[in-house]
Amino acid sequence: MPAGLNVVILAAGQGKRMHSRLPKVLHALAGRPLLAHVIARARALKPARIVVVYGHGGEQVPQAMAAADLTFVRQQPQLGTGHALAQAQPHLLASAGLTLVLYGDVPLIGDETLAAMIAGGGDRLTLLTADLDDPAGYGRIIRNRRGSITGIVEEKDASAEQRKIREVNTGTLALPTGHLQDWTAKLSNRNAQNEYYLTDVVPLAVADKVAVGSVKARAEWEILGVNSKQQLAHLERIHQRENAARLMDAGVTLADPSRLDVRGSLACGADVRIDVNCVFEGNVKLGERVEIGAHCVVRDTEIGADTRVEPFSHIDTAKIGANCRIGPYARLRPGARLAQEVHIGNFVEVKEADIGARSKMNHLAYIGDATVGRDVNIGAGTITCNYDGVNKHRTVIEDDCFIGSDATLVAPVTIARGSYIGAGSTINKNTPAGQLTLARAKQVSLAGWKPPKKEKR
Ligand code: UD1
Ligand code: CA
Repeated sequence: MPAGLNVVILAAGQGKRMHSRLPKVLHALAGRPLLAHVIARARALKPARIVVVYGHGGEQVPQAMAAADLTFVRQQPQLGTGHALAQAQPHLLASAGLTLVLYGDVPLIGDETLAAMIAGGGDRLTLLTADLDDPAGYGRIIRNRRGSITGIVEEKDASAEQRKIREVNTGTLALPTGHLQDWTAKLSNRNAQNEYYLTDVVPLAVADKVAVGSVKARAEWEILGVNSKQQLAHLERIHQRENAARLMDAGVTLADPSRLDVRGSLACGADVRIDVNCVFEGNVKLGERVEIGAHCVVRDTEIGADTRVEPFSHIDTAKIGANCRIGPYARLRPGARLAQEVHIGNFVEVKEADIGARSKMNHLAYIGDATVGRDVNIGAGTITCNYDGVNKHRTVIEDDCFIGSDATLVAPVTIARGSYIGAGSTINKNTPAGQLTLARAKQVSLAGWKPPKKEKR
């Protein structure tokens, strides 16, 4: 390990081809900004400093990504990658021997590749290079007869002969912090693009007898950058495919690995099965043998062992116990907390409610701001009226209650243990334990009633 590390993330460029008002590095991959992926990779290296160079799009980048361990430095105007690094230089820890430069729009760079780049320590310049069948657009790596790197030539400055070189500069590099100020000060912009090229540090390193080496990425897609919506979608697929492969390697059964999207982290117990077109967001934990049916969206939720979620269910910030049956077409909103063996059926919405063991609501109900005991049965069409237009109130349904279909429970109200509520009742007073409560107009039938007749004109 090097004696201390700085990381600089270059993120000032415009990203014209995104055709967006949003700075390129804030576009989302797997639900998080591109830059967030790069920052996560940087943090994994435990550096002394992380400096993000931003510019295009004004303060949006620091506003979106602010964190105590990040230093944001504005580069205005953007005069090239060498100029960008020069802006970061005063904010680096001088005693950290090595400075690693990452691009904010290259989100899939891998930990092992970065470990290899910094392994040599602080006395060398290490370039991340790649051999491409089509090197167009990239800077080419120039090597002498002995195979040592002597420079990088940008495509726009390259001769026809140099353009044939297939070894390219990916842009990621590590260099000795001690030389950084001197080298960036020596860069000139006399080139085809009138930019201060960071790549021109290579001949400066050679002149200063600093060893110049190269590392290749573990996987070829690690070096890919995002310049357009098409490239963004391409990288999203690669990322999701890798995610799916990791899950299957850990024992998860996926109906189709190309139809799974994880936007955050998904932790699975043994023998979890996931059907097609499911989206997992934030932090999701699935216990052993959980089954998720097709077309479900699950966000920030923990699901206990042996629970089955039927297709088309939407689950957000809930906690679900073991052996539950959810859906199809169920909606669990934030604060839905289900004990074990709970049944939530089609078109049932639960929000900010504790539901006790073995309680069931199988069709068309809304249970919000409620505490429901165990072994409660809630009929179709039942609604907790939790909102009076200004404030929210709680409904309490104690153990062993039976709520008839289409009951309207006007909160605050308590349905005491073992109560039965007749179908169609509007309940706005607490009910006594163990009794049947009805609150609906009495049914009448009129003998001798005659149906109306069509009037003659
Ligand atoms: C750069 C390299 C090139 C390499 C290519 C890989 C130089 C001179 N060239 O090309 O050898 O093959 O990357 O994609 O370094 N940026 C700033 N400020 C600036 C300019 C760029 O922060 O003034 C950032 C961009 O936001 C981006 C990164 O630096 O994240 C690379 O910029 P880009 O313009 O894409 O690279 P090129 O100069 O085309
Ligand atoms: Ca580029």
